[in-house]
Amino acid sequence: MLLFLAFSALLLGTSLASPQQQQKPECCHEELQSLVVKLNALSEEVKKLNSAFYNVHRARSFGSGSEKLFVTNGHEDNFDAANHTCIQTRGYVPSPKNEAENNALVKVVQRHNKSAYLGHIPSGYSNWAPGEPSSAKGAKTCVKIDNDGKWRATSCEEQLLITCEFTVV
Ligand SMILES: *[C@@H]1O[C@H](CO)[C@@H](O)[C@H](O)[C@H]1NC(C)=O
Ligand SMILES: *[C@@H]1O[C@H](CO)[C@@H](O)[C@H](O)[C@H]1NC(C)=O
Repeated sequence: MLLFLAFSALLLGTSLASPQQQQKPECCHEELQSLVVKLNALSEEVKKLNSAFYNVHRARSFGSGSEKLFVTNGHEDNFDAANHTCIQTRGYVPSPKNEAENNALVKVVQRHNKSAYLGHIPSGYSNWAPGEPSSAKGAKTCVKIDNDGKWRATSCEEQLLITCEFTVV
């Protein structure tokens, strides 16, 4: 609709620019012109925002070494609560898929000297501690990342640092 209006405005503008037609039409011309001006301004604004967003994203990725963003809210809870919190904020329980992502995640848990749950164990990359995943002690069905960056099986009821993964682009 907006595009149609803008296009009409351009046509109107062109026909009015011819010397025989100096008179203003009864309706719309100025409104349409101002709409075109507004659309152009909006388009410039979107370009600037887009560029600012990608600058921030690049700076953040440069600092963390990972395209994904890993963030903690500083609270500790069991797996279900961590999953619930992450899903609610439109993130996921972390699933680092390569060393760079694992390193970015471990920086977050190291800052708090804690461990955090992992979500899906990705195929193709893993960083299990020696002897892991162990299920020796019964109900160890969750996986955590400790502050040495290694993965270990753990109870889903352990109180761990709530950390979520966000995919930015
Ligand atoms: C995480 O929470 C979502 C939404 O409540 C649920 O669908 C999903 O099964 C949960 N994941 C796990 C591994 O429990
Ligand atoms: C990190 O936590 C462990 C216990 O979980 C503790 O022994 C250690 O001193 C802590 N390290 C730092 C730097 O606070």
